[in-house]
Amino acid sequence: MRTTWLLTALGASAFAVASPVNVERAVSDSPFSLYAYGTGLSGLRLFTSGNATYVGNYELVGDDQAAPVIFTKQDDDTLTGSPDTSVTSTASWSNITFYVPSPSSSKHAVGFAKSVGDVPEIVTEFIFYGAWIATIDTTGTLQTLWYVTPTETDGIYSLKWNATGDSTEGKITIALRTTAPAS
Ligand SMILES: *[C@@H]1O[C@H](CO)[C@@H](O)[C@H](O)[C@H]1NC(C)=O
Ligand SMILES: *[C@@H]1O[C@H](CO)[C@@H](O)[C@H](O)[C@H]1NC(C)=O
Ligand SMILES: *[C@@H]1O[C@H](CO)[C@@H](O)[C@H](O)[C@H]1NC(C)=O
Repeated sequence: MRTTWLLTALGASAFAVASPVNVERAVSDSPFSLYAYGTGLSGLRLFTSGNATYVGNYELVGDDQAAPVIFTKQDDDTLTGSPDTSVTSTASWSNITFYVPSPSSSKHAVGFAKSVGDVPEIVTEFIFYGAWIATIDTTGTLQTLWYVTPTETDGIYSLKWNATGDSTEGKITIALRTTAPAS
């Protein structure tokens, strides 16, 4: 599947894809975190309690399973996540696979799964364009459809994908990047 996508991508736009593939190698070398940037969001870190994804300060949710995610890129371009044990050691999930809804899905939830076979209509392969994380569709076009919606907790947002058809109030389009905010 991955090979087919890449060949299609190269055929459709060799120039556009040549550089992200190179950069992708650099990203894959070491574990990384993801941060949301957008209007009013100056680099909020991605966290989870093992399934749904959020950005913001995980400490505000009061759940001992909540932890910022350290991602590792696998050889098949999937991303597995584990808790950042340098900040919290109470979460019991680990090595879970990151996904977004597939183009044929009308869902918006971004999440993690223990076994991706358990979740229908998802995409689990990601590509990096510099520090930006995207998917690549069958025509070789990079897709970055990340957005967030507010939660009941101030400063914490649900991370979602493809706002088409989502009428939730307060949606904010974001870029999801591997670059931490300057402190
Ligand atoms: C994961 O989260 C989704 C969306 O919030 C939910 O529909 C699903 O039931 C959850 N799965 C598990 C295993 O908790
Ligand atoms: C993590 O998950 C990946 C993909 O599911 C698997 O290939 C890898 O062996 C797992 N690593 C560990 C340390 O369990
Ligand atoms: C976005 O969602 C719409 C409506 O569900 C769907 O038709 C479209 O294929 C989706 N696009 C992508 C790139 O996922």
